[in-house]
Formats: sequence, C-alpha cells, structure tokens
Amino acid sequence: MWQSRPARDTARTAGRARRLFAAGAAVTATTAAIATMATGGIAQAALAPGTPLKTLAAANGNRYFGSDMTGDLLNNTTVTQLQAQQFNMLTPGNEMKWDTTQPSQTTFNFTPGQNIVNYAVAHNERVRCHNLVWHSQLPSWVSSLPSNQVQGAMENHITNEVNAYKGECYAWDVVNEPFNDDANATPRADAFFNAMGIGYIADALKTAHAADPAAKLYINDYNIEGMNAKSNAMFSLAQSLLQQGAPLNGIGFESHFIEGQNPSGMQANMQRFANLGLDVAVTELDDRFTSLPPSNAGLQQQATDFSNAVKACLGVTRCVGVTQWAIGDADSWVPGAFSGQGAATMFDQSYNPKPAFTAVQTALGATAGNTVTVTNPGARTGTVGTPVSLQLSATDSAAGQTLTWTATGLPAGLAISSSGLISGTPTANSTSNVTVTATDGTGASGTASFTFTINGGTGNTVTVTNPGARTGTVGTAASLQVSATDSAAGQTLTFSATGLPAGLTISSSGLISGTPTAAATSNVTVTARDGTGATGSASFTWTISGGNTGGTCHVTYTRNSEWPGNFTAQVVIANTGTSAINGWSLTFTFPGDQKVTNNFNGGFSMSGENATLTNASYNGTIPAGSSITDGFQGTFTSNDASPTSFSVNGTACS
Ligand code: XIL
Repeated sequence: MWQSRPARDTARTAGRARRLFAAGAAVTATTAAIATMATGGIAQAALAPGTPLKTLAAANGNRYFGSDMTGDLLNNTTVTQLQAQQFNMLTPGNEMKWDTTQPSQTTFNFTPGQNIVNYAVAHNERVRCHNLVWHSQLPSWVSSLPSNQVQGAMENHITNEVNAYKGECYAWDVVNEPFNDDANATPRADAFFNAMGIGYIADALKTAHAADPAAKLYINDYNIEGMNAKSNAMFSLAQSLLQQGAPLNGIGFESHFIEGQNPSGMQANMQRFANLGLDVAVTELDDRFTSLPPSNAGLQQQATDFSNAVKACLGVTRCVGVTQWAIGDADSWVPGAFSGQGAATMFDQSYNPKPAFTAVQTALGATAGNTVTVTNPGARTGTVGTPVSLQLSATDSAAGQTLTWTATGLPAGLAISSSGLISGTPTANSTSNVTVTATDGTGASGTASFTFTINGGTGNTVTVTNPGARTGTVGTAASLQVSATDSAAGQTLTFSATGLPAGLTISSSGLISGTPTAAATSNVTVTARDGTGATGSASFTWTISGGNTGGTCHVTYTRNSEWPGNFTAQVVIANTGTSAINGWSLTFTFPGDQKVTNNFNGGFSMSGENATLTNASYNGTIPAGSSITDGFQGTFTSNDASPTSFSVNGTACS
C-alpha cells in the first residue's frame, strides 16, 4: 500500500510547503508562519508551555514519551527544538527500513539511520529502532528471491542491521504488521510467510536476539489496540512464541486512530499481553480527521482521544511509554497516506500546541505546579518507653490531592505511616533531626524539619540468658524457650529475634519454635524489651544440617501475574549438588485449586492438584551449581496459593 520512501518523502516535503503557504494566506497564522521562516525557523511556537511530556511521563512509573522523526527534519530547528523539549524516545520514521538499509542485495546503508541515532544521543533520547521484517518499504529484490533463499536473506539482513546499531536501540520492532485486516486476521502472505510459514517470526526474533541480546524485541501492528479478531490473533501468536521460548519482549500497538473512533477496551487488551510477561507500548499514536479543517468540537474530541490512549498506557504497569507518529501536523505521514485527511497530532501546522497536548499533559498528572506546605509541629520531646502519637498535617494548592508521607531521622522505635502519623515507643535517649515530606499525586512535595528529643526512661537493665550455640535438622521440629531478667520488678518482657533459621519464629514470650527448612548456620540475636523500652539481647549461632529430606536441588516459585481465573508463575530450579542434572521432572502439589495449562519451556501433566513439569529439549541439562528458569500458565477457581515443597526426579529439594 505504501509508496516507496523517496517518492513519499519528496511528496511529503512539497505537500508540507504547500500547506504552510495555504494556511498562511487563509488565516491569521500568516504572521507566525512568515516570522518562522524569516528567523531561520526559530519561532515561539517551537516550545510549548508547561511541564514537557517526557518529564511527566518519567514521573509516571519511569515511562517515556516519544515521537518519530525523519532525516529531512534534522536541520529544521523549529521541529528539533520542540522534539527535544517534549520527547525522550525517538523512532526513525523511515531510515531503518529495508528499502533504505539494503536497497539491493548485500549493499547496506546505515548512514541515514545513524544520523537519527546521533541526534537522539545528542539530545539524551533513546531510540526505538524500526523495523527489520515488514512487507512494506521492502525492495523488490527480496520478493523476487527463490523461496529457498528468503530465510538466508532475512537472517543476513537482520544480523547486519542489528549489528550496525548494536547498543544503540532500546527496542527493535523486529516484525512489523504480520497480520491482515480480514475477518480471521490471517497472517500476511508476504515474501517471508510464503517462504517460511509463520515460523519466520520466531526465526527473526532469534536472529535479532543473537545480534543484540540487550535490545527489547517487539512485534508491532495496527488495529490491535482494542479486543478484536486481529488482537486475538496477535495474542495467540505471542503465547505460542513464548511457549517456544522465542525471545519476544514486547508488543507495539501502533494506534493510528480516527478522531472520535478510539477503540474501547484498549487498557484491558494491553493488560492481557502484559499478563503474559511482555512489555507493551503505544508506538505510533496519531488521531486523524477524515475531513479538514477540524472544528473546535473536533479538536476537543481529539484531545479526549489522545488522553484516553495515554491513560490506557498508564493503567498497565508494563506499558513502558507512548510514541506519537510525528512531531506535529506539518510532518505527519497522514496527509500523504490518506488523501484529504490530517491534523492528526498534538501540534498544529505551525507547531503550536493543540487541545490534545494539554489533555495529554493533564492525563499525565500535570497540575500547573502544585505547592505542598507541611505544618511544622515544632520541637518535640518524648520519653523512653512512653508511646508517641503525632499526626502531621499539610495543605496542597490543588484540590483533591492525596498526600503520601515519608520521614528521615526519626528516633529509634518510631515510624511514620503514609498518612503522616508518627507513632511507636521510643527505645533510647537521643536528640534526632527529623525531616518529614508530603508528596502529592503529581510529584509535588513539601517538607518540614524539627528536633525530637527522647529523654531517659527508668534506667532498667534487661539481661537475656544466652542459650549457647544450637543445632537442628531440616524437617525436625525445634523448640527453645529463651529467658531474661529485669532489674525492675513487675515488668513484662517482650521478645523479638533477628537471623532465625528459615522455618523458625519467636513468640512475644520468647518461645522459638517451628521446623527448619534449609541447612545453614544462622547468627541469631534475641532481644527482650520491658515496658519502659529498656532492652537486653543475646546472640548465638544456630546450625541446621541437611536432614534426610533435602535433595541436591532448590526450587524458587514466584507467581508473576494473576487475573480472573488465570495466573502465570515462574520456577527456578537450582542444582545444589555436585553433578549435572540431565533431564528433569519437577513435581509439586498446589495448596489451592490450580491447574497448569501451559509450560512455556517444556511439558507438563496434572493429576488432581499434583503438577509435573518436564524439560524441553534445550533446557534439560542443569550443570552443578547452576539453575534454569521456567514459567507456566495456569487456571484456578478460588485459591492460587503458591506451593512450598518440590521434588526433582523424585527427590525432595531443600
Ligand atoms: C510510514 C512513514 O511515516 C511514511 O513516511 C512512509 O512513507 C510510510 O510509512 N506503520 C508503520 C510505520 O509501522 O513505519 C509507517 O510509517 C506508518 C504505518
């Protein structure tokens, strides 16, 4: 569907110039447009007010806000100023596509892409490298190859290009737009699919991973933003690739929208991909008008559309960022690709911010510089052993903000809650310099500092009787009553301990009990505290030896994600023995009602709640002292509590 790049870029540049003049002649933008040109492109419009999108995105879980940019804009200071002000992720618009990077077989040209990378580096931006395998902007020599040469050509292209930009790409769109838009979302029958079948995707990912293991590898497509046949097909593909162990790290949701027609369910759709353990990103956001010029109401609707897309990303923890496909309307691909349509971005033809820009700032939490003022409670005093309760207060210049509190320098025994309550019982004489901080939802914060002086308690002496070095055995219950004396009569002692062997706990009356679960030597310290806050402690070692049940393996089970009725979990099998495990069968019993439905890297079976996971061909060997990581998906009804004991090849692990 796309024209070749040089043809399109020439058309785009000419079109942009025509549109600028047309707008200048028709409306009051005349002066601004002429001023822009007369001053060599540096105009007021080059910078937008308020906190930049990249700063707001960073304050939202360290996300990025990006734009694409084509090489013809690198010397346009109006564009580059605005780009660098607002965005901190860059996607080359065309410069890394196959028709540029390998226009004829084995003739490579990585200079245009490198120019974009250099610009990004100079402006502290990262790069989403785009793209390696795509049916479009693909030189005809590839499609003309005999089918038995396509795989070699694809792997060679990927290896050369990924190597050329190695270390410079935060992410790679490895495969772009693999699905058709038909009702069944069939795979696109391009040269790669025709020669290799759907397996070309796993092969492309593996080839890219081998060349740059640090880059996040994505599949990118459009019309997969909502729940529909195409996103379902992408979901199945992602599941199957993960099951095969293909190095897939993320899914890109292009998000080329039409004003007023955003798909619903975008957040839930992105979330299901995230639940597979993938990153997700909005990679090419624009929202076009199908007829021009836009009305004011239309611009408001576009603002809502942009804001909803950004909020969908913010609602998914693994959504790493949003990229707009252009810097402003004047450099958008839309007028060139969809005749008569346009005005699809947050900045207008002269790079002035549109309502969509302000709406995105607001969606990202900007509230025009909030001021948080903490009321200083003044110098405080307290007494060892006497409980303290001090509620702090603060005001926010913006309404409706929730403040979250933290403190540094609190006297020993005191803590602060997130709602600003300092409480606890001081344990020692001291004068502390306390600083409390209240932070609102936009990241604005205020602080207050004061001294907190704790005066002496009663001077009681607590003495814990040292029980001496202890020993025990994995799997055999242990019990030890620790005792202590107090110089004052009538005191109740409260016991606590640090460093207890795994499986043991201490009660407040000093009884250590439980069943040790791991062989180790622990340094235990038991502390007894009386009602005045006076404390005493004793330290001793506690050596637990192997017992009969600990095998030469250790398994760590982590539930990664859970959504209604479903979950994914990770198991790390460590070989703690002295010889390699060759082929493994991991068995465990779920305490809940889970069923494994999918082992990502091997086989599985279920019998009641007894699960067995077995190795795949490539992960069966676990050398002594090494571990392997496997993951699986499962279902559950009411309880997905994690299992705690495991066997490998029939022997219990420690
Ligand atoms: C577009 C570019 O912006 C245009 O300059 C070019 O002529 C055609 O391609 N999906 C993608 C992008 O993944 O690479 C496309 O970019 C837009 C659609």
